[in-house]
Amino acid sequence: MNYTVVLPAAGSGKRMKADKNKLLLELFGKPIFVYTLEVFQQDPSCEAIWLAVKEEERSMIEQNVKKYGLTKVQGYATGGAERQDSVRACLESIPPCDVVLVHDAARPFIEPLVISRLAAEAHAMGAAIAGVPVKDTIKKADNGIIMETVDRDQLWMIQTPQAFTYELITHAAQSAFEDGFLGTDEAMLVERLGQPVQIVESTYENVKMTTPDDLVYGKAILESRRQ
Ligand code: CTP
Ligand code: MG
Repeated sequence: MNYTVVLPAAGSGKRMKADKNKLLLELFGKPIFVYTLEVFQQDPSCEAIWLAVKEEERSMIEQNVKKYGLTKVQGYATGGAERQDSVRACLESIPPCDVVLVHDAARPFIEPLVISRLAAEAHAMGAAIAGVPVKDTIKKADNGIIMETVDRDQLWMIQTPQAFTYELITHAAQSAFEDGFLGTDEAMLVERLGQPVQIVESTYENVKMTTPDDLVYGKAILESRRQ
């Protein structure tokens, strides 16, 4: 199933504690966001890539897009204060299409097989998101005192990509904007409309580069893939 991908890249990466947007940090000499873009550049089902960027970082990002031959990048939108604003800016810019995938530019290790499953499920179901089963025991606590041990059989850690039909995600994003609703992922915008969302099992390697230790893990993943 063909799709257009929207990549929010307009954050500041505060938790990474670097002196710049974490996406511009390099792993073995290549910026993190370039690894993410390359996955989609190489996927024949990806028709177009749109990026949400900060105005002041746009030319640096454009230079890298050119340098690494990322010819599927078709446009840029100016990111907003919240991730949801950045995604909405992109959704307002892209031409209508069948399926839209939203993917954090900070998740460079997404598997192509998961992407194609998500696109197919979104086409069939309307909405499909990547997730992995929770590995640890989960407890709810109040001030550090356990209130409850939660049954983890039904718990998933949710990632991106999150895939939708164009009609559903544009409608859900507009509706959330009008209602002043802020979610922590795109699926929440669809869930609040009462629409079903399918989870597609992803991999634990699809980690978001968030804190400095993630860079160590990221390098290890790249090394293991080289062998
Ligand atoms: N993002 C965005 N616009 C924002 C905030 C985040 O486009 N206003 C993007 C980030 O660039 C990243 C993705 O959304 O690719 C996931 O967000 P997160 O990992 O939280 O990145 P940051 O917001 O940059 O990091 P932090 O929360 O630590 O500041
Ligand atoms: Mg953030």
